[in-house]
Amino acid sequence: MKKLFAVLGNPIGHSMSPVMLNDLFSYYNMDAVYLPFQVEDADLHDAVKGLKTLGVGGFNVTVPHKSNIIPFLDGIDELAANIGAVNTVVNENGQLIGYNTDGPGFLKGLNAFLPKIADQKVLMIGAGGAARAIYFTLAKENPTVLNIANRTVERAQELINDCPYSVSSSAISFDEVRQSIGEYDLIIQTTLIGMSPKIGVKPVELINIRKETFFCDIIYNPLETQFLQEARFHGANIQNGLDMFVYQGALAFEKWTGIFPDVERMRDNVLKQLG
Ligand code: ATR
Repeated sequence: MKKLFAVLGNPIGHSMSPVMLNDLFSYYNMDAVYLPFQVEDADLHDAVKGLKTLGVGGFNVTVPHKSNIIPFLDGIDELAANIGAVNTVVNENGQLIGYNTDGPGFLKGLNAFLPKIADQKVLMIGAGGAARAIYFTLAKENPTVLNIANRTVERAQELINDCPYSVSSSAISFDEVRQSIGEYDLIIQTTLIGMSPKIGVKPVELINIRKETFFCDIIYNPLETQFLQEARFHGANIQNGLDMFVYQGALAFEKWTGIFPDVERMRDNVLKQLG
């Protein structure tokens, strides 16, 4: 019998996950379908109960339900619990268990360029939901420093205080970034500033940067944000958010099927969808 997989969000029409995941199921000859469902906040509990009753194989969860879904699940793994957000649910013998593959997906994509985060000085820009998943994941990799710069510095400090993994971190302002940007080995932009259609803006000034610093942006539309364009202009190596998106999906697929899929195929698929 065909197995059901899904993604719950609101809105969900623009999600590139259904085409990417359905292609994988067919590529690996699996009798499964992955469907998007637009779910209102008030209907989330009913949607989860319905999927469970129907014997769903697993599903993804996206904005705005990543945190709200937790009370409706039967269990949650440690990293997702600490982050406070679930993006992947697995039906494990009738129990719906929540995981977070956003942070691990980012790290796996990054590792293709930077195999080792240990002993690196890392700066994250932004302190929202995506930053949280990445911060908690990187904190376990033993960087020398893992600082967070945010418009609202208190929010960055809260994120740091919430993290149970021991790491040297400071919450800093964008002004402080301007003075210290050359000190970092890795800088990760996690806000949605510069995402299509509002391209041409960036969260911080990139002055006095070093070309040895590696720059990441979690945005993949456009493929090169203003932030990455300027970093590249200064001679630095850069990585856009495509890998994070692809690898979070690959890790979800692996949890559901036991197969770590062909990420090049997934990347090509997303690039085709982006046009
Ligand atoms: P997400 O869950 O997608 O990460 P979020 O929780 O709304 O989204 O977080 C958005 C991030 O972008 C935050 O770091 C936010 O900064 P504040 O905490 O100060 O709000 C940042 N952000 C959004 N708009 C911004 C702007 N115009 N300038 C600077 N930072 C901005």
